Amino acid sequence: MTASGTFGYGVEFADFVPLEGIGGIIVKGTTLNPRQGNDYPRMVETAKGMLNCVGLQNKGVDYFAEHIYPEIKDIDTNMIVNVSGSSPDDYAECAARVDALERIPAIELNISCPNVKDGGMAFGVTCQGAASVVKAVRKRYSKTLIVKLSPNVTNIAEIARAVEAEGADSVSLINTLMGMSIDIEKRCSRLSIGTGGLSGPAVKPVAVRMVWQVAKAVNIPVVGLGGIMTAEDAIEFLMAGATAVEIGTANFIDPAVTIKVRDGINDWLDRHGCKSVQEIIGVV
Ligand SMILES: Cc1cc2nc3c(=O)[nH]c(=O)nc-3n(C[C@H](O)[C@H](O)[C@H](O)COP(=O)(O)O)c2cc1C
Repeated sequence: MTASGTFGYGVEFADFVPLEGIGGIIVKGTTLNPRQGNDYPRMVETAKGMLNCVGLQNKGVDYFAEHIYPEIKDIDTNMIVNVSGSSPDDYAECAARVDALERIPAIELNISCPNVKDGGMAFGVTCQGAASVVKAVRKRYSKTLIVKLSPNVTNIAEIARAVEAEGADSVSLINTLMGMSIDIEKRCSRLSIGTGGLSGPAVKPVAVRMVWQVAKAVNIPVVGLGGIMTAEDAIEFLMAGATAVEIGTANFIDPAVTIKVRDGINDWLDRHGCKSVQEIIGVV
């Protein structure tokens, strides 16, 4: 699948890649009300990766339902909406509105955005915060609920267990790692709000480690992501225990990377005499 925030609504990429060849497209972060996002600059390249502080810029769930959904609903893949919010009620209301959209089979709940009602902490960094959002959403959302975990925690396995206990159908990880880059001539951060989220190959070893820990801790399926550029990278996540993968930052370099990774996994399996991808999932 393509990772949220890195592949727009899919349609923007239709000239470059056959969208029906992608397992799923996870669209931009969507919130109950429109969000402006942060001031520029909000992206900076770093060694083997990038930092961003886009800040969930989007026009809100009603705009999505009215204007974007009709454009994407007939794309022959799994169109999944990434849902964000600033309180459990906010998340639940947004999820309920997406539930009404027939051709969206799942949501991915982004529980690593700032929590304005709770002193600026992110929901996803405490078991209680994560559980409270999933509990509220589960009451109002009937389809497949994937919960996207924050890596900015000490023990990601316990957060995964907390959301599993509240009825998550799956977890995906990782979201970006908090980072910072300073322009020493200007003596200030390269990003408007100071810090940003690190993604790309630089985060992959952290992501693989976390997928491995979470896959052992829960009984629900795990979606792995963070720094995947090639089929070999994706296979690391599968061997760590993920049953599916997402690709984010790599789309900025090659919009067709998802298809190439998919084909590359199949080639690798053939070369190694594996009849099914199941043979490598969780082998480590
Ligand atoms: C520009 C940008 C925007 C992003 N926006 C979102 C978002 O709206 N919601 C979300 O859950 N994750 C968002 N992410 C995080 C990615 O979906 C992904 O979790 C992360 O980048 C790690 O994967 P990667 O290394 O393959 O990019 C964003 C990442 C980038 C680079």
